[in-house]
Amino acid sequence: MRPTSTPAAPSFTTAFANKIATAPKAELHIHIEGSLEPELIFKLAERNGVKLAYGSIEALREAYAFTDLQSFLDIYYAGASVLLTEQDFYDMTRAYTERALADHVAHAEIFFDPQTHTERGVPLAAVVAGIERALAEAETRGLSSKLILCFLRHLPEDDALATFDAALPLFEQYAHRLIGVGLDSSEAGHPPAKFERVFARARSLGLKCVAHAGEEGPPAYIYEALDLLQVDRLDHGVRSIEDPALVARLAQTRVALTVCPLSNLKLCVFDDMAQHTLKALLDQGVAVTVNSDDPAYFGGYVNANYLASAEALGLDDASVYTLLRNSFEASFITPAERSALLARLDAHWHGSQAEAAALDAS
Ligand code: ADE
Ligand code: ZN
Repeated sequence: MRPTSTPAAPSFTTAFANKIATAPKAELHIHIEGSLEPELIFKLAERNGVKLAYGSIEALREAYAFTDLQSFLDIYYAGASVLLTEQDFYDMTRAYTERALADHVAHAEIFFDPQTHTERGVPLAAVVAGIERALAEAETRGLSSKLILCFLRHLPEDDALATFDAALPLFEQYAHRLIGVGLDSSEAGHPPAKFERVFARARSLGLKCVAHAGEEGPPAYIYEALDLLQVDRLDHGVRSIEDPALVARLAQTRVALTVCPLSNLKLCVFDDMAQHTLKALLDQGVAVTVNSDDPAYFGGYVNANYLASAEALGLDDASVYTLLRNSFEASFITPAERSALLARLDAHWHGSQAEAAALDAS
């Protein structure tokens, strides 16, 4: 990031930062386990008698110096080991919804990793019940949400199929919330093709499909996610920029990318935020959105991602508006919900303060 002694780009004023921060927005790429702050990790470890490899909150935070995706995932899975009960999943999700509401997130589509928990003996029903309780509460405070069950791609597809089967009753019980499947964890060496069967089953049940592709993996993985998994949306996808035909296809089909700028910086996908390809993709007509990925580990929630990328890339008013608009366009919500959220965004971005306040209150 820019050293503090360097003056901000002239277009990036405090007023512009406030306008972005207070705009209604959707967050479409957040791993709920990645919202577990060190303080809560230690609190839950104590409550559950789980021994951590780090002696203090500070020591854990100091370990957040990642060199690539795998170096992060090793710590992320260690952090998730403190989650054992329904109450733990509630507490984690409640903390995220507080942060999201503070960032003016009006709608969130949230990933969770069932295999990380079931392999430690935690019942899948407890995981989903705890998350759902917090999300239902947040709904009454103005944050709507959906849940997406992710398969861990470093494990065999048979494990994903067994997880999917075990989750079938939950897809029915929580049909209002649990609307899709995703694919995450170690990308290199685990191409989307490995999960063709389980995604076909999910699609046959009418579930939404998303997958991490082109975060560290090559453009070929993005083609596989599109052609073999037939995803509705791509997570990350930043390496698409290496293949002009792929960029043209994404722009033409409007399959959205859920880009996570601070994550890409922390995991060394880019050396510097000024080198991030978000603006280049946006300028070529790709439906880019901005998201936080694992905010407790990467130094900021969704607003921090908007502000860091807008400042470093010199994004103007129209570009940030497009990013915000894309977040609602790419959401898995009904057309009526989308129209209402877009109207709120337009009132905030283009309308009078009175108009925006009236729509916020409605
Ligand atoms: N799981 C949590 N965060 C992830 C990321 N950025 N990429 C892949 N898997 C993840
Ligand atoms: Zn992710």
